Amino acid sequence: MYVRVRVPATSANLGPGFDVAGLAVTLYNTFTFELLDEGLQILGCPEQFANKDNMTYQAFDEAAKEVGLDYKGVRIITSGDVPYTRGLGSSSTCIVAGIVAAYAFKDRYEDRQDILELATKIEGHPDNVAPAIFGGMTVSVMEDHKVTTLSLPIKNDYRFVALIPPFTLSTAKARAVLPNTLERADAIKNVSHLALMVASLINGYDQGLKLGFKDRLHQPYRGKLIKNYFPIMDVLEKDDKILGAYLSGAGPTIMAMIKAEDDKGVVRIKEELGELIEGWKVEKLELDT
Ligand code: HSE
Repeated sequence: MYVRVRVPATSANLGPGFDVAGLAVTLYNTFTFELLDEGLQILGCPEQFANKDNMTYQAFDEAAKEVGLDYKGVRIITSGDVPYTRGLGSSSTCIVAGIVAAYAFKDRYEDRQDILELATKIEGHPDNVAPAIFGGMTVSVMEDHKVTTLSLPIKNDYRFVALIPPFTLSTAKARAVLPNTLERADAIKNVSHLALMVASLINGYDQGLKLGFKDRLHQPYRGKLIKNYFPIMDVLEKDDKILGAYLSGAGPTIMAMIKAEDDKGVVRIKEELGELIEGWKVEKLELDT
């Protein structure tokens, strides 16, 4: 018997919603789990990740203990399109897949709240794992070990243009540059932008998005780690058809939002950015619901 889990990529923070807001997009990783009589086999990923420290295996093993799945060995086959360490939630796909698989072997794959809480414990924050589990856009609040997640409807039909650089940025490095304290004025700014961003997406108030995606908590600091980040954001800001842009998760991917009917959007963005994104991959994605 085997279990196959397909998990979407996610774009976290959405500007001001640091560690809180995220959404799932149409890029996927797929994981197949098969219980064995003994041993651990991990196939389909680079050799340095094919051992017991593998994130998918670690999550599977922890979830197996939680649900009382007494297994002797497991084979995990991974495949998919979510790029590693680019701010599109590749680690969350591994964590969520490992947990869902262990729950599925015990017929508990619908226990999403338990899956969410274990995934959040392993990842450290819920903003990638929540949309990976529930789909769509989510906002999550952590209080002690309890995670409260709301799935929110996005009113208009948008496309998400992911500008994916050829270089990586680890979440640890991108978190290390953030200040430990925030001025009250900056905190107020962040709260107000988060409220505007969420309200604009729910109500289809497109004019609110450019302002809504701004923040004072992480993007100004992380931008310095990403080649051409500030000039790219300036170009995107000036294009009236771009509804808004933000750093996806911890970066380095930059996400630009356009309307579904803007079918020339990707070509226009590539032309406008030209050499600034030389060597970058540009993917037009939809919301995964
Ligand atoms: N909220 C997280 C961060 C997402 O920005 O560090 C990346 O894991």
